[in-house]
Amino acid sequence: MADPLEFAEDLASRTGALIAEARAGQALDLSYKDGNELLTSADLQADELIRGEIEKTFPAHNILSEESSPDLSDPQALNGPLWIVDPIDGTVNFSHGMPFWCCSIAVREKGGTVAGAVYGPDVNELYTATADRKSTCNGEPIFVSEVPTLDKAMIMTGVDQFVDPSLPPFAIFKSFASNAQKVRVMGSAALDICRVANGAADGYFEAGIYLWDVAAAQLIVEQAGGKAEILYDMPPPYRICFAASNGLIHSELTSLVDISSLQEWKG
Ligand code: IPD
Repeated sequence: MADPLEFAEDLASRTGALIAEARAGQALDLSYKDGNELLTSADLQADELIRGEIEKTFPAHNILSEESSPDLSDPQALNGPLWIVDPIDGTVNFSHGMPFWCCSIAVREKGGTVAGAVYGPDVNELYTATADRKSTCNGEPIFVSEVPTLDKAMIMTGVDQFVDPSLPPFAIFKSFASNAQKVRVMGSAALDICRVANGAADGYFEAGIYLWDVAAAQLIVEQAGGKAEILYDMPPPYRICFAASNGLIHSELTSLVDISSLQEWKG
């Protein structure tokens, strides 16, 4: 039986490298899914590679991937071993040649994440953690920052292109901007959360992120000493409102998130 972390680590590294190399040699095929969300040929190539390897090595396990979500309405499927995959997190960055994109792979058992790997080829960062081992970046231990208050904290976030600036997500953005030291929108949630894990940033928040964007990074930030939580589930399935931090600023950060206004907004 393959070790889940070694498998996830190896697969995230191989997928990231293959996609980076493919991009160097050819123009990307671009299309749009679910209205206007960008999809590149590389997302599909990466998805196919990852699914194929998981199916070959762990034939009885389920897979939840951004690019091919199965029907997991059967609770058995969600409680059994489940791989949660984002072949390319930060697709828009990737398509523009910005370096902040990564491949994210997590595996869950009985609803808890047991191993996660996030690999950013262009930034040469491979983050890993398991439920019983501390987090690492490129094999070295990493730890969250010791920044004690929000006014000294750098907060990473994301806002959807189609959210009207008069709506609650922007009110929260404004509130972060006036209470934190700086707010940054880098475009890859998994890498943002891993940067909270290694102490380069202090907090992360987004309303409308998906489970596959954060599954591996959540374990990585927790096993680096931080705190992460789903604040509430949003429609459609697997969409969530999520916060992560170094732990010290967590309540200050989440106190700025007006959950009832977000729930009324409904996403
Ligand atoms: C996106 C990135 C981005 C976040 C978006 C996500 P994708 O993921 O993580 O940082 O703001 O909400 O959808 O679509 O590139 O995998």
